[in-house]
Order: sequence, then C-alpha cells, then structure tokens
Amino acid sequence: MNSCKSVPDVGIDAIALSVPRGYVELSELAEARGVPPSKYLSGLGMRRMAIAAPDEDPVTLAVNAARRLFERSGASPAEIGLCIVGTETAVDHSKPVTAFVHGLLDLPSTCRIFEAKHACFGGTAGLLSAVDWIASGSARGRAALVVCTDIARYPLRSAGEPTQGAGAVALLVREKPRLLSLDVGQTGTFARDVHDFWRPLHHKEALVDGHYSVQCYLDALEGAYDAWRRLDGATDEPLVRTCYHVPYGKMARKAHRHRRMIDGLTEEVADASFVVEVEPSLDLPSRIGNVYTGSLYLALASLLNTQARELAGRRIGLFSYGSGCCAEFFAGRTNPEAAELVTRLQIDGPLRDCQRLTVAEYERLRAEDAVADSRPAPTRAAEGTVNEGGRAVYLGVDSNERRVYAYA
Ligand code: CAA
Repeated sequence: MNSCKSVPDVGIDAIALSVPRGYVELSELAEARGVPPSKYLSGLGMRRMAIAAPDEDPVTLAVNAARRLFERSGASPAEIGLCIVGTETAVDHSKPVTAFVHGLLDLPSTCRIFEAKHACFGGTAGLLSAVDWIASGSARGRAALVVCTDIARYPLRSAGEPTQGAGAVALLVREKPRLLSLDVGQTGTFARDVHDFWRPLHHKEALVDGHYSVQCYLDALEGAYDAWRRLDGATDEPLVRTCYHVPYGKMARKAHRHRRMIDGLTEEVADASFVVEVEPSLDLPSRIGNVYTGSLYLALASLLNTQARELAGRRIGLFSYGSGCCAEFFAGRTNPEAAELVTRLQIDGPLRDCQRLTVAEYERLRAEDAVADSRPAPTRAAEGTVNEGGRAVYLGVDSNERRVYAYA
C-alpha cells in the first residue's frame, strides 16, 4: 500500500479527452429505429453517441487528447520516457498507433513506444505497465504518457448500435501524481478464454454475443474483485466511489449491484448505494458512448470533474474489463491537489464544440468511413505540409498505402 515507505507514490497526474466533432442523440436514433426512446435512455442508460468523421481516426483522437493534456497540465513532451497507446481499433496490423502519435507529438527519440491490444483492457494494460515501469526505477525521473483511443462500431440497426461511441483519454503517469495515487502492486486479476466480443481482421465493425458478454463481464468482475479482496490490506479502508468499465451506463449499474452483493449487501441496499458511489462517474460516458479502452478512464474523468474536492484523501475503486477476456480490479487515493488541477484541466471542454448530427448524416458518415482507409490523400499533403496550430486530421493514404496526417 502507498502508506508503506518502500512503495513509491505513483499514479495518474493529469487527464485530458478528445472527442469527434459530431454526435447523435439516442432519442433520435431510437425514433429512426422504431424503438421506444426509453429503451436507450433508461434501459441502456445512454444519452448520446459520439461519431467519428472520415478525417477523424484513433490516431487523430489520441494526438488531440495528448496535446490537450500537455497544454492544460503544464507537462512537456520532453519529459516522456514511455508512451503506450491502448486501442482495439488500430489503423495498421504492424505499425502501432503509438508511432504516429510519437511523430505528431514530437516525443523524445529516447522514448519507448508500443501499442497494447486486448479489447477494452488495452488501456489498463498500458497504465499498469507504466506504473510498474516507474515503480521499478526504470523511468529515472521521467513520466509516461498512456493514451486510450477507440472508435466503437457495431453494424447499423444491430442491438449494439446504440452502444457505439468514439474518443480518446490521455493519462500522464508519474511519481507524486496530482490526481490519483494508485495502490502499486495491489491489483486483482481475472482471465478466461471466451468469445463474447470479437472483431476479425477484415471487419471494421465488432461482432458480439451481447447478453453473453454481459454475463462474461459480471463473472470477470467477480473473479477480479475476489482476487483483490484477498490482498493484504486491500479492504482496510472503504472505497467511497468505484468507477467501472462503461460499455453503456446500465452495465455499470449491474456491475455495482453484483459487487456490493458480494460484499454482503442486499440487492436493495446495493442499488441505493449506486447513486452516491457510481452515478457521478457516468455523466461523460452517457454523453460520449463506449470508447472501449478509454471507458473506465472516461468514468474516472467524469468523477474527478465533479467531485475532486470532496474526494481529497479518499479511496476510489477501479474496474477494467476487456472482452476475450481479462479484467482487473484496483484502487487509488485522490490527492488534495486534484481539485485545483481539475479546474485548470477543463476536462469536459472538448464536448462544448460538438455538433449534433441527424441520423441520415450519421449513416452517410458511416458509408464514407467504410472506404476511408484507402482514400487517396491530396498530393501536397502527402509531401508533408502541416500547420501545427490546429487539430490533427487524417488525410488519406499515399501511393504506397502509408497513412498521412496533418494539423489543420
Ligand atoms: N424502456 C425502458 N427500458 C427498457 C425498454 C423500455 N421501453 N425496453 C427494454 N428496456 C430495458 C431492458 O429491460 C434491459 O434492461 P436490463 O438489462 O436491466 O434487463 C435493457 O433495456 C436492454 O434491453 P435488451 O436486453 O432487450 O437490449 P438488447 O438485447 O437490444 O441489447 C445489449 C442490449 C446486449 C447490451 C446490446 O446493446 C449489445 O450487444 N451491446 C454491445 C455489447 C456490450 O456492450 N456488452 C457489454 C459487456 S462486454 C464489454 O463491456 C466490452 C465492451 O465494451 C463491448
């Protein structure tokens, strides 16, 4: 535990988001699909889903989140010694998203970079590796940048469609973090080979066994939480809030009920505790949708955005689930500096510029998106013209199928 002198104080120092420019109101999607809006709004617990345009992809979302992180937190790219991108919607089978991010952010050439894939667990794999890298002494005073970036796509008109979303969450990980000190080395893990959600190499849209995936999530939560509870000292101090992986809001509600009943609460008392212990973490996820690897950290961002001051010094539980599957339960403590920093970070700022799309516009973007990976980039852009003041955008591919990006 962090109170023990031999364990370093490592965790999340700052958080920033990026989201696509467009979103769809789920009440409008429900109407278009002939479903009662209450099914999406209260049955799934979601209000909107962010939709990526053809010039927005996991690379641009990651870069825009990381640039905001540096601008708002006061950190510099020169401090980064490790950069990991967690994603399940990578843009190349070989070249990692991290390589594009490294180039577009001008990170040091001495920085170790790689991409982590395990469905929605890839971001947590990145975060926990970064924490261990710092705790082991390998960082030698440097910080890590972990970016979770994804575009959640299911087939149009499928049951998964209202649980789509897109966005990136960038995390600065370092010693003496200002936001959240993690309990280093204290995680409960669960893994099992299941086929609940998968995306064959030639598919852009995920395939899912929806109701089975819900059961796999709950089984994994039970396994990971049980492993965590057995750790020395893990339950000595209560968790006043818990952030869950949020594929849709109702899943976090189901998860919380399940976990608190494992603690011995009745179903009624477990449900009553949801309002205080979980609900504040669901605002941003309900306005953005599922961002796969970033969903847990979007929930954490949501919680800190509204309650950093009252949570100073208090413990928070975190549950990450990646289909396939691997899950981890761990905890951290909010630091007293968090409230002041959160004001500077303006975590939900990127949502203010977003524009509502009609269902017809969303369907048109989806058709364009299907061919975006082979769209030719304008020739001048392929020669490397950039304006470093703006947002990162994806322009298309050059004559040798290399992806081309610019700041526009
Ligand atoms: N008003 C209010 N509520 C309504 C309603 C109405 N008119 N109609 C239905 N509902 C409720 C239902 O009672 C149900 O609630 P409960 O779950 O509490 O019983 C809820 O709305 C959903 O209804 P259905 O179960 O009938 O919904 P569905 O079968 O159409 O699809 C889903 C639900 C399976 C989750 C589907 O959206 C899906 O496949 N999503 C993608 C997979 C997913 O997100 N899985 C989560 C676990 S896996 C994971 O976490 C990894 C990841 O990120 C993908």
